[in-house]
Amino acid sequence: MYRHKYHILPPEGWLNDPNGSCYFNGKYHVFFQYSPGQPEGGDKYWGHYESPDMVNWKYVGIAISPDMEYDCDGAYSGCAYVDDGTMEIFYTGNVKHPGDYDYINEGRGHNVLALKSVDGTNMSDKDVILVNADYPSDMSCHVRDPKVWREGEDYFMLLGARTRDSKPALLLYKSNDKKNWKLEQTVYADEKLGFMLECPDYFLLNDNIVIAACPQGMNHEEMQFQNIYESGYFTMKDSQLGDYCSENNIDETKSPDRVLDELLQVKYFTEWDMGFDFYAPQSFEAADGRRILIGWAGVPDAPYNNDASVAEGWQHSMTVPGVLTMKQGHIYRYPIRELASLHINERRCEIESDRVIHTTSESWDLLITEIGASETVSITINSDVSLTYDRNTKVCMLTFHNNTGSGRGVRKADMSELPSGGALENIRILFDKSLLEIYINDGETVFTSRYYPKHHDDMTIRFEGMAAEATYWDMKEAIS
Ligand code: FRU
Repeated sequence: MYRHKYHILPPEGWLNDPNGSCYFNGKYHVFFQYSPGQPEGGDKYWGHYESPDMVNWKYVGIAISPDMEYDCDGAYSGCAYVDDGTMEIFYTGNVKHPGDYDYINEGRGHNVLALKSVDGTNMSDKDVILVNADYPSDMSCHVRDPKVWREGEDYFMLLGARTRDSKPALLLYKSNDKKNWKLEQTVYADEKLGFMLECPDYFLLNDNIVIAACPQGMNHEEMQFQNIYESGYFTMKDSQLGDYCSENNIDETKSPDRVLDELLQVKYFTEWDMGFDFYAPQSFEAADGRRILIGWAGVPDAPYNNDASVAEGWQHSMTVPGVLTMKQGHIYRYPIRELASLHINERRCEIESDRVIHTTSESWDLLITEIGASETVSITINSDVSLTYDRNTKVCMLTFHNNTGSGRGVRKADMSELPSGGALENIRILFDKSLLEIYINDGETVFTSRYYPKHHDDMTIRFEGMAAEATYWDMKEAIS
């Protein structure tokens, strides 16, 4: 009843982070952390989906198994670097040595392993690239999730890390052959970011360096950092960049080693998503150069559950691919336009207060534009979940009722400092049986969250306090 129609999900068992996402030889590939047969998590393999268009995904099978000494307790997360007709995968081999260890500072191996594929499906033997002894001596055993990219003749690798005294860090390695890597920089992040940074990413958007990472252990606040672990990006807003460049007497062309130390501060950190279920995203470049982000629509160790999906033998999924664009240093994430190929049964209507849209579909897409609103507006699905926006405070709120959030309560987003200045312009809601993705103002603010309606046969979407235009579509099946 809750399995998605158009979001990547495990055939059965457990899914977490997207891995190795890339465009290679005419196809899109998304690998994922996969525990087959274990819907509550367990042994980590890499599962594999591929697609001609980022919309219709086909499950290919298991791509990497934890089958050697250096990854025997899990083929953990990593990336795919595509160059010269080869897909090169770098990932973390997790090892837990038997014994009485804390598994933080002792007893664990986190090795960087590499393998290659020329057809995107069959993988070469694994090479061991780095082991814990290669990391700086003040690092704990937790050093993982390599991201590799190229600049000129040099290759860089960024690894997420936790220091021995539990502070967040990143390690930057450099190589000219992708086999021998030398430590270029240890980046000690702002301690307000907690104790660990997972799943780093690095890319340029509008020529700005963007570092993404998942900090664990931040202090929670009323309108930010509300989940157990956070996921976001570091970049400078236009005004911050100007100040930084003039203070440091540099032009705006930055190399990673020049800005990394500066960037990893809470003041440059923005969360990707304000919902309950978003973590460990990866970006990649589409065939036409768009920067695409896919996230895990889940969070590890969350205090809410997905029991209804576990009862069906599976847990978790991905978000739809989102295009990233930047305005005034803020990143917008919006579903790729190709998703429109899944649209059927289009309906258009005018929204006025107390208007209700009925649907019998389990998976739909709703776009609300031309919003004119009174002080408080709300959209409520089945009396279960509501999105409210208050024009005075410029705060947007997602609230679950009737326990259809399986323990999820309220998430808030303060929109006042965003490029729109808190004006509500448009809302897009993607629903897929048990997953909601809510994109506000072209993806300036996004809420991703699981939602378990008691039924799909007559879902109602009620609007209050707004006048608007709405376009509604049912969505076709896209996962096989
Ligand atoms: C993030 C993460 C990664 C790790 C993987 C293991 O969710 O903890 O840091 O590589 O999951 O599945």
